[in-house]
Amino acid sequence: MRKTIALAHGDGIGPEVVNEGKKILDLIAQYTDYDFNFVETPLGGDVWKRTGNNLPENSFNQMKESDAILFGAIGLPDIPQGIAESAIMKMRQGLNLYVNLRPVKLYEPLYDICPLKPEFYADGIDITIVRENTESVYAQIGGIINADTAVNTMVYTRKAVERLLDYGFDYATRMGHTEIISVDKANVLACSRFWREIFAEKGKKFPKLKQTNFYVDAFCQWLIRSPSTIQTVVTENMFGDIISDEAAYLIGSLGMAASGNINPNSVSLYEPIHGSAPDIAGQNIANPIGAVLSIKLMVEESFKDRVLGTQIENAVIDALWEGRTLDIYPRKGSEVKDPEIKKYKKCTTQEMGTLIAEKLKTKLKS
Ligand SMILES: NC(=O)c1ccc[n+]([C@@H]2O[C@H](COP(=O)([O-])OP(=O)(O)OC[C@H]3O[C@@H](n4cnc5c(N)ncnc54)[C@H](O)[C@@H]3O)[C@@H](O)[C@H]2O)c1
Repeated sequence: MRKTIALAHGDGIGPEVVNEGKKILDLIAQYTDYDFNFVETPLGGDVWKRTGNNLPENSFNQMKESDAILFGAIGLPDIPQGIAESAIMKMRQGLNLYVNLRPVKLYEPLYDICPLKPEFYADGIDITIVRENTESVYAQIGGIINADTAVNTMVYTRKAVERLLDYGFDYATRMGHTEIISVDKANVLACSRFWREIFAEKGKKFPKLKQTNFYVDAFCQWLIRSPSTIQTVVTENMFGDIISDEAAYLIGSLGMAASGNINPNSVSLYEPIHGSAPDIAGQNIANPIGAVLSIKLMVEESFKDRVLGTQIENAVIDALWEGRTLDIYPRKGSEVKDPEIKKYKKCTTQEMGTLIAEKLKTKLKS
């Protein structure tokens, strides 16, 4: 199976984690029927500094023609905020990547660094946030009007809400979930009341699926209080952005969380949810697992290969029993509680990627 994959490294730790993702893709190509053709699609702050464009036309066109995109992160501290980052909205809107799929799963080897007490996650954490990805206040409608006033307009169209909810209901059904939660702020925002009405309309076709509405503030506490009970969550763009970072910390680190920016009818883009992390860039200490798990999502959602997706995930879990990057290394204090703690190797970015690749190799060979 020949697949063209666009590699969009970006800035900061973006290239470091994408390189580890490519290590996994190379291994898959070596041991399975997949044959990957990689194309480089430069973007971001460094590219903007050289060319004045954060997403060159050639990169965008190559992305459009590929079967999937693996993206790192963008943003540089020495250029104004938004200059590099606006390339993300260009890709999301230009490629019509209207679903942002964000799974949040706590793996057993990381129970010791979950910030919650054990009784809060005893039944596991396995949540998927399905976030609208093109509209809301991120639609870039507004601006700084004058020295005293700035405006961003929250906008929702029926088309955007319907297609996101269609995906969310379909996702919950195919995952065998029993409940779907919609997160909004309908007690204050007209956009949310509009969203809630469409959620109820769409839900009529799924009578067996329990449908629950939460205001976003209440949901933030529910996420801490009862994460084991949460399955599929559908929400709008900004709320999804915020709650998925909160959720990512429940599983240990921002560096653990993957995402898919999905157009179900065309090319989709997969990326770790973290940013370019200038504070740790260039030190070979970033956690590459979010990027590796983005490949799991890529093979499952774009190549419809759940078997390979599960193998990648299991390789990550196996690797976590042996080694960890600094962000997920047991914290001071847990050492006292867990005499086994010294068994974990402290891994660099590259060592973590290699460890996962070794575990995956065993699975692909058997
Ligand atoms: N999709 C994207 O490209 C994206 C997303 C978010 C932020 N950004 C941009 O990234 C830049 C930095 O933003 P920020 O600091 O708010 O968020 P960030 O996600 O880059 O970093 C937040 C914190 O998490 C840590 N962290 C992030 N990823 C990690 C990893 N893989 N391993 C270990 N630790 C990790 C960082 O060291 C930092 O302390 C900004 O320019 C921002 O606009 C880009």
